[in-house]
Amino acid sequence: MAAADTPAIEVRVAQPADGPGLVRAIAAIDRETDYLGTPGERLAWTDRPAAMLAELQQSDDGVYLIATAGDDVVGYAGALVGQYRSTRGVLSIPHIGVRAVQRRHGIAGRLLTALEAWARARDVHRIDLTVDQDNAAARALYRKHGYGEEGCMREAASGPAGWHSYVAMARLLDDAPPPMAPVHATRRPRADSLTIRFRPVAPGDAAALRVWEVELLSAPPRLLKLPDEVAPPERFRDELTAVLGNAANFLVAAVVDVDGAERVAGLLSVSAKPGVRLRHDLAVIINVLASYRGLGIGRRLFEIGEDWARAREAHRLSTAVHAANPSGLGFAAAVGFAPEVVLRRYARFAEGDADLIGLAKFPSAG
Ligand SMILES: CC(C)(COP(=O)(O)OP(=O)(O)OC[C@H]1O[C@@H](n2cnc3c(N)ncnc32)[C@H](O)[C@@H]1OP(=O)(O)O)[C@@H](O)C(=O)NCCC(=O)NCCS
Repeated sequence: MAAADTPAIEVRVAQPADGPGLVRAIAAIDRETDYLGTPGERLAWTDRPAAMLAELQQSDDGVYLIATAGDDVVGYAGALVGQYRSTRGVLSIPHIGVRAVQRRHGIAGRLLTALEAWARARDVHRIDLTVDQDNAAARALYRKHGYGEEGCMREAASGPAGWHSYVAMARLLDDAPPPMAPVHATRRPRADSLTIRFRPVAPGDAAALRVWEVELLSAPPRLLKLPDEVAPPERFRDELTAVLGNAANFLVAAVVDVDGAERVAGLLSVSAKPGVRLRHDLAVIINVLASYRGLGIGRRLFEIGEDWARAREAHRLSTAVHAANPSGLGFAAAVGFAPEVVLRRYARFAEGDADLIGLAKFPSAG
């Protein structure tokens, strides 16, 4: 109960004008805990919080909720929906925090309740997050609010005293529709002879890569993104240029010559996770067009990616494959990934829901 001379706590959606107060609260709470950003760490939007909040409100891609005491922001919860139609019903919480002096007054609980109301008004069927295995307070908070544990990501974060493992947790908001049946992809080796070259992707590859992506997404297995979600040519080129301009990313294409023109057959993408505590973990994505499967292209792309990761002294490689994609799971196992977490009903397709399996490989372990 608040004392008579302390202002009551209000929990509400952050408006653009709350931006500077939100940034101050995030920075203050980062200094008070080992479980969020490192002290002084900046987010992509730290310099433009009002613009970020305005964009979020306009796109409905997520929300920041804040707890205020008078003019001060004393707690916050950020959450973003998935970026594809199949994952739009997943609301992920990248961070939630309460000022140390205000803890154990039910503020985080009120933030989670308000987040759930926001989610239910938008057909979100799953709210999820990851939490440090040692963070007993946060794990108890989420358990109390109906979040179940879905597995452990080993050494997912670094801290001053060494590696920290993360527990994946989620709260499901609706009854399960039937799961999607597995879709087996064809893997019929070609009869013709081919010369395949592996080379880094350049900005000039945008048009060929776009053709590749549309073809990839139009044939089994179903991936999280659908063909009509591929960006139009100009935006595709701008996004590729931005990805290639960031040293945290590494893209390699497997190319073949078809009728004198170069065609993309497969793509490797490796990207360091954002954030000081997470950047030793590289997300790996490999896809090969159906008509070039069964030739060892995927395995070769993985070797190139793993060599790059070792050269950067990356500690961990991560990937994710949904449960109705047995060929993707078979490939991940073949190159040495082991399953860690099962994110229940993460993807929602017309054919039903599919769990997302998170897998990891430690390159130093060979
Ligand atoms: C985790 C955190 C957000 C909880 O905020 P809070 O406002 O103190 O939480 P609440 O008062 O709403 O607590 C709700 C429930 O959570 C659990 N809980 C919260 N703090 C706890 C603690 N220190 N020990 C055990 N359980 C705790 C309890 O079940 C509590 O219910 P109860 O008070 O009826 O027993 C806060 O401690 C914090 O900001 N920590 C640092 C940042 C952080 O760890 N964020 C989470 C990253 S995933």
